[in-house]
Amino acid sequence: MTEELEEQLTTIEAHSLCQLARCSSTEELEQWRVAVMGRRGKLSVILRSLPNLDPSTRPVIGALANQTKVRLEAALDKRKYFLLNQPSDVELADKDRIDVTLPSRSIKSGSHHPTTQIVKEISEAFATMGFQTIEGPEVELDSYNFQKLNIPLDHPARDMWNSLWIKQETSDQNSSLLLRTHTSPMQVRVMENNAPPIRVLVPGKAYRYEATDATHEWQFTQIEGLAVDKNITFANLKATLEEFAQRIFGDQRRTRFRCDFFPFVEPGAEMSIDCFRCDGEGCRVCGNSGWIEILGAGMVHPEVLKGVGYDPGVYTGFAFGMGAERISMLRHGIDDIRHFHLNDLRFLRQFA
Ligand code: FA5
Repeated sequence: MTEELEEQLTTIEAHSLCQLARCSSTEELEQWRVAVMGRRGKLSVILRSLPNLDPSTRPVIGALANQTKVRLEAALDKRKYFLLNQPSDVELADKDRIDVTLPSRSIKSGSHHPTTQIVKEISEAFATMGFQTIEGPEVELDSYNFQKLNIPLDHPARDMWNSLWIKQETSDQNSSLLLRTHTSPMQVRVMENNAPPIRVLVPGKAYRYEATDATHEWQFTQIEGLAVDKNITFANLKATLEEFAQRIFGDQRRTRFRCDFFPFVEPGAEMSIDCFRCDGEGCRVCGNSGWIEILGAGMVHPEVLKGVGYDPGVYTGFAFGMGAERISMLRHGIDDIRHFHLNDLRFLRQFA
């Protein structure tokens, strides 16, 4: 009798659990509960029969029946919780639906630094005039930064460029190293390695031992230009730079050339454009002059041509050097050069 009842309880539990797993609504769960644990349920019938059992078997079957009841009640609670918390078919259908009318999420992408952008723009303007863009070393020999540019060791013009030295040898100037103070050494490097005709543009970093202010950085970007051929004149220099200024600043800007001194050109000049802020009237930005200087330029000095083995009686050339950040400042109305190196995203994102 005991074994028979034990088997009966095991069968009831197994069958009931199978049926419970198939219940898919709270109504079906209630039907299941009534069928198993209701007043006339399968399990209740056994529990009610306990008083009629032999006193020796009663405690064993009683304990077994109660454990079965506890397990079935726990299974019922678990199934109820699962059914109440699973998403309905309607909800599932909604979840998978794509709302094509929603505005798309913006994709954040990086952009070039404003200095890179202006260098690219200027390179493209000169490329259409036949200039090829190349690069050169930032750590330079004294001989290229100064001597071959007609600036010997004790020349006072060295004071025009406050240098950051890496190795300063007074006995052997050829091994003195510095961070280049301008991109002009590339004039010599290009001419030493190429025969005329030459038309190159050399953008790159330049370094000076200077205090910074709104228009001066100790590290900035210069763009050097060099053209050498037979019959190159100052008129070619002027026409080339005027064309460049028009392309970068627009037709409405005027240009002005004035004499200037650089030891590696003769004659030397500076080029200015009329102030973008006051249209040449005079204001704080242009120091009340109405003009803003943007570059130094001139005809390549005969001594420099001779130094690279060119005959100055046959070949002539012009060269110029401009500050890329200064051009960008004028172009976009930026009032402080230090913005370029602060990495402030609010500034940089305006150029994205
Ligand atoms: C030169 O460096 C000459 N090598 C330019 C040159 C090349 C003349 C070829 C003749 C022939 P300068 O020191 O003036 O010249 O600098 C040229 C330009 O670089 C300036 O007009 C300015 O736009 C920029 N620049 C100079 N110093 C700084 C600085 N500290 N910070 C930012 N830009 C500067």
